[in-house]
Amino acid sequence: MKIKLIVLLIGFSFFGYSQKKVSKKTVILKPKTEFVSDLISKMTLDEKIGQLNLPTSGDITTGQANSSDVAKNIEDGKVGGLFNIKSVKKIKEVQKIAVEKSRLKIPLLFGMDVIHGYETTFPIPLGLSSTWDMDLIERSAQIAAQEASADGINWTFSPMVDISRDPRWGRVSEGSGEDPFLGSRIAEAMVKGYQQKDLSKNNTILSCVKHFALYGAPEAGRDYNTVDMSRIRMYNDYFPPYKAAIDAGVGSVMASFNEVDGIPATGNKWLMTNVLRNQWGFKGFVVTDYTGINEMVDHGMGDLQTVSALAMNAGIEMDMVGEGFLKTLKKSVDEKKVSIEQIDNAVRLILNAKYDLGLFHDPYKYCDENRAKTEIFTKSNRAEARAIAAQSLVLLKNNKQLLPLKKSGTIALIGPLADAKENMAGTWSVATNMEKSISLLTGLKEVAGTNTKVLYAKGSNLDYDAAFEERATMFGKTLHRDSRTSAELLAEALQIAGESDIIVAALGESAELSGESSSRTNLEIPQAQRDLLQALLKTGKPVVLVLFTGRPLVLVQENETVPAILNTWFAGSEAGYSIADVLFGDVNPSGKLTATFPRSVGQVPIYYNQKNTGRPLMNKEGKFEKFRSNFIDERNEPLYPFGFGLSYTNFKYDKVEISAVKMKADEKLKISVEVENTGDYNGKEVIQLYIRDLVGSVTRPVKELKGFQKIAVNKGEKQKVTFEIGIEDLKFYNADLQFIAELGTFEVFVGTDSNTENKVVFELIK
Ligand code: BGC
Repeated sequence: MKIKLIVLLIGFSFFGYSQKKVSKKTVILKPKTEFVSDLISKMTLDEKIGQLNLPTSGDITTGQANSSDVAKNIEDGKVGGLFNIKSVKKIKEVQKIAVEKSRLKIPLLFGMDVIHGYETTFPIPLGLSSTWDMDLIERSAQIAAQEASADGINWTFSPMVDISRDPRWGRVSEGSGEDPFLGSRIAEAMVKGYQQKDLSKNNTILSCVKHFALYGAPEAGRDYNTVDMSRIRMYNDYFPPYKAAIDAGVGSVMASFNEVDGIPATGNKWLMTNVLRNQWGFKGFVVTDYTGINEMVDHGMGDLQTVSALAMNAGIEMDMVGEGFLKTLKKSVDEKKVSIEQIDNAVRLILNAKYDLGLFHDPYKYCDENRAKTEIFTKSNRAEARAIAAQSLVLLKNNKQLLPLKKSGTIALIGPLADAKENMAGTWSVATNMEKSISLLTGLKEVAGTNTKVLYAKGSNLDYDAAFEERATMFGKTLHRDSRTSAELLAEALQIAGESDIIVAALGESAELSGESSSRTNLEIPQAQRDLLQALLKTGKPVVLVLFTGRPLVLVQENETVPAILNTWFAGSEAGYSIADVLFGDVNPSGKLTATFPRSVGQVPIYYNQKNTGRPLMNKEGKFEKFRSNFIDERNEPLYPFGFGLSYTNFKYDKVEISAVKMKADEKLKISVEVENTGDYNGKEVIQLYIRDLVGSVTRPVKELKGFQKIAVNKGEKQKVTFEIGIEDLKFYNADLQFIAELGTFEVFVGTDSNTENKVVFELIK
C-alpha cells in the first residue's frame, strides 16, 4: 500500500512515538516497519493487549466522553479501536482521549457496519448484486466510504461475501447470493470501492471482508448454527469470494461465528493460518465477530482463558466486544500458553493498519466537521443511489405488458409496505436516517406527476400475529401496526380499489424479517398479506405486485394469480423514487436474480450449479420418475432460476459461436453471440456465460457461471458480445485440493439466465 510520508499536521505534537516535525505543518514518520517496531518496543504487555481490544462505543455520548467507562479504558491504553459511534464530534472527542491522555498516544480505529451505504443508503447487498453491474457496485461502496469517512469512520465491516444457498437464513439479504464467480467479482468491486487502493486518502476507509468462513451454510438455515462441509466444496464453492477480497487487497477479515470442520472459525488455526495466511498470503489483521471468542465457551471449547488463547494461537488479532484477550492473555503469557511473539505479531498488524490509514500522521484525519456538513446525504449522492437502486429491481412477471404504468388515471396503492419509509433502507443500515427515506407512496406520487391520482390504503398489517410483527420490525423499523380489524382494513382497501384503474400492491417482508437472527421456516409472504392480495385480485382490476423482500421467497401462488410482479428487495433511502421510476418505465428493469427462488421450502438448499447425481431426471417436464433424484410431491426446478429477470422489452439470442473447437492450455477461445432487442423499449441485458466440464476426476456441476456482460441495446438494434475463455476459467479444486484444469470436453452456454440451453462444445487438449 502506498503511503504518503508527508502530511499536514493539524495542531498536535504530543506523540509518545518518534515523529519529526520538519516545518510547522509537516510531519515525517519513519517507514512503516521501522516506525511500528519502534512503537512496539516501547509498549508494555498490557498496552499491547489493549491494542487487540475492540469494544463498542457503549455509554459514550457527546460531552460525556471523558467520564465513560470506555473512556477510562482508552486512557489506560486498553482499547485499540471502537465501533458503532456516530458523528465527527463524538469521534473527535474520543480520539482526543487516545492521543492526548493515553501514555503512548496511539490513535484509535473507528469501525462501523457501513454495509450498503451510510446515510445515503443503497439496496441491501442481495439487491445490489442483482444489478450485475460492477461499476455501480464499486461506486456505491465509494460513496459509502466518502460519507462514512466524512463522519469520522475509518473502518467498515463490509463486504459480507458469504455464499448462501439457503433462503431460510435471514442473512442472505446481506450477501451477493449463491454464486462463487459473481460473488468474487462483487467482493473485489466492494473492496476497491471502499479502499480505492490508497488508504492514506481521507475519503477511503479500511474494508473488512466477512464472515470468514462458510457462515452462509448453517444447518436448516438457522442463524449461528453448525456448518459441516467437505473441503472440496469449501474450496470450489464457498471460499472464492473471500479469496477474491484478499487478492483485491482487503485490509481486514472478520471471523465467522460458526464452526468449520468441527472447530469454531474464531479458534480454527487451519482456517486462519494455513488457509488465510499461508495459502492466500493475507497480510492484514483478523477481527472476531461480536463476542466470537466468548462464544467458544458455549461451543464447548473451554473456559474464557482457554478459548482466548485458542483464538490468539489460531491467528486472530482483534477481539470484538468480549474482552477475552483483555482479561486473560497476560495470564496465558505468564503460563506460556501464548507467546509474546504471537502477541507482538498481532499488535504489529493492527498498528500497520493504523499507519496505512494515516492515523499516526494525523489522528484527526477523518474528523473534518466541514466535510461532515457538506458530504453526507447530498443531493448528488442521493441521485446516484436512486439510479443504482433502479438497476437492482427484478421484474419477475409481466403478463400482457401490464407494466410500465401510464402516467394518467387513478392508481390504488395498497399494502403495509406502501407507506413505510422506516423499512425502505432494509436491514443493516445503522447510519441511515429512516425518517428521510422515500416511501413508495411518496415516490409514486412524485414520479406520477399531476395527471395521475394516487389513492392509498394500508389493506392489512404485516401479518395477523402482532407478536410476529413486533419481532420483524425491530430497531425502529416499524410498520406502525394498525389497530383496526382485518375486515376494516380490507374494506378501506377495496373502497379505493373500486375507484381506481389499477392496483399496485406493496407487499412482502418487513426490513427486519431478514437480516441477522431472522431465519424463517416459512418462505411465503405473511398470510394476512396473501389474503389481502387474493381479495384485491377478486376485484377484477389489474394488479401489480411490488414485492419487498430480503431473501428469495416462495411465490408460487402469486406467480399463478398476479399478472405483474416487480421484486424490489429493500432498495435503500431512495427506494420510493427508484421503484416509481421503474413502474412508470422511466427506467427499464434490468436486474437479474443472484439467488434461486424455490417453489417450496422443502427444495432448500437450492442452487443452479448443482451436481448431476447418478440418477438425474430423464424428462425435462418435471414429471415424477420413480428411483430418480426427485420429490414425490414437488418438481425439482425452482420457480425462478438464478440469473432470471425480465425487461419491458425482449431480447433475442442468436446461436453461440466459438472461435475453435479445440483449445490448448496456453490458448484462448472466443465465444460470441448476437443479441437483438426485438421489443418496444430500449433496455439493458445481462448476458451470462456458463461452462460445464463433462467429465472430471471429481464430479462437476451441471453449469458454472464464468462470465457476464451487462449491455445496453436500443430497440430494433443488435449487438455482438464476445467472451474470452482461458485455462483459468476451466480450473477447479480436485480431490487433493489442487487448482487444476483437466483435459476433456466442455460445454459453453450463453443466454439470458441459468436455464439457457444455447450452447457450443469444445475440447481441452494437450
Ligand atoms: C454481525 C457482524 C457485525 C458485528 C458488528 C455481528 O453481530 O455478525 O456482521 O459486523 O455484529 O456490529
